[in-house]
Amino acid sequence: MLYIGIDLGTSAVKLLLVDDRGEVVSEVTREYPLSFPHPGWSEQEPEDWWSAVLSGVPELVAGVDAVDVRAIGLGGQMHGLVALDMDDSVIRPAILWNDGRTAKETDYLNNVVGRGKLSQYTANIAFAGFTAPKILWMRSNEPENFKKIAKIMLPKDYLVYKMTGVHATDYSDASGMLLLDVQHRRWSREMMEICGVSEEQLPRLYDSWQCVGTLKPEVAAAFGLSESVKVCAGAGDNAAAAVGTGTVGAGGCNISLGTSGTIFISSDKFGVDPNNAFHSFAHADGGYHLMGCMLSAASCNKWWMDEITNDTDYPAEQAKIDDSRLGRSHVYFLPYLMGERSPINDTNARGTFIGLTMDTTHADMTQAVLEGVAFAIRDSFEVAKNLGIDIPRSNICGGGAKSPLWRKILANVLGIPLDMVTTEQGPGYGGAVLAMVADGRYPTVKDACDALVTVASTTEPDPELTALYNERYGKFRLIYPALRGIFPEIA
Ligand code: XUL
Repeated sequence: MLYIGIDLGTSAVKLLLVDDRGEVVSEVTREYPLSFPHPGWSEQEPEDWWSAVLSGVPELVAGVDAVDVRAIGLGGQMHGLVALDMDDSVIRPAILWNDGRTAKETDYLNNVVGRGKLSQYTANIAFAGFTAPKILWMRSNEPENFKKIAKIMLPKDYLVYKMTGVHATDYSDASGMLLLDVQHRRWSREMMEICGVSEEQLPRLYDSWQCVGTLKPEVAAAFGLSESVKVCAGAGDNAAAAVGTGTVGAGGCNISLGTSGTIFISSDKFGVDPNNAFHSFAHADGGYHLMGCMLSAASCNKWWMDEITNDTDYPAEQAKIDDSRLGRSHVYFLPYLMGERSPINDTNARGTFIGLTMDTTHADMTQAVLEGVAFAIRDSFEVAKNLGIDIPRSNICGGGAKSPLWRKILANVLGIPLDMVTTEQGPGYGGAVLAMVADGRYPTVKDACDALVTVASTTEPDPELTALYNERYGKFRLIYPALRGIFPEIA
């Protein structure tokens, strides 16, 4: 039996074909454009996601017996607003998770409706990237478009809709809309009223592993697969990545170094961070999780290498960073290239190098980028510590995690061992695992993870380097508060 996992990312869709023993049989990646129509805005065309899947799946399954493919599961970039009209046409480009245009709406929700009320209705407060502030933005800024909305959905739900014709979402992804009462797993009446939307416009809620339908005949034909292929609801990419790394049940942690950087703490019980610095969301295993999300993680290094350095040989660049420099550099980087969400929640924050001197080298700046991201993840790690959550070790996944140097820096900045699992494809692998559960191959997501996910390597922290990084982190923490007042001036 074979299963397809779809990871609908921000730069590309990654398709995985996985067999019933959990081995990855083939992989296909299709990139699509990301547009920044104004500073801090971030949009994509949902049709581009669908074209990428339509052209990628036939290549993924070429050479296998189509009847062996049983089910499809997805992990998708969260929070994006996809709106369809009565004829199922996309009304405007999707407004993505890292879009910062909704400062005004976020402020209205947090300060006029009030953080206390939002937290009571949804278990969360508003962040600029969440879906509800985007709906409010559309209502005020594009009233004609707002009036046309027949269906609201999240990015991966658009793919599920194209594949099955079912308007569905799952609890983990729905949690990031600020429309879901996360604790009681139902749409919040109060939030629908505040946003001016009705339940008919919202997708039906499913568990991540629940089958929502089968492939439409024309889609099955285009994919070269049978019409009986099941499609499950899938999950937000962080919950799917957590499944993919076996971070399920109580007390697990997964760090994702992707376009965004997240720290994901799984739990079998519902809980809220009283300061709402962490998101309180449903997990794809039927439980819950707390999560801190930074908006630019591996994307900082990608920006630094591709846009500034003009060199795509990342390993060669990182090879210049000598061990003796780690924990000793006086160059710092604030990784706020798209503003920042967790824990500072500041859409005006910007990327910054500081501490440059005449002897600063290119490699010092590359190192500062890698360290700046690690320090910003430590900021969220500290939030967890202050909540009394013990994180003795963590899984790690995402494009950035492939760099041994970055893993070493992060393990020492956090002072904990970091485990990489054999199948490091994160959300795509999680999607395939959910598909297996949908197909009845495993009774629960936890059972599937226990059977399929194993640790391949561990990066241990070194006490001496951890001590050096502790000291450096103390200095890093001084930089943002000193600049906070300047960012709105230069935004
Ligand atoms: C999580 C978040 C990001 C996106 C990235 O809250 O906004 O991790 O899901 O795809």
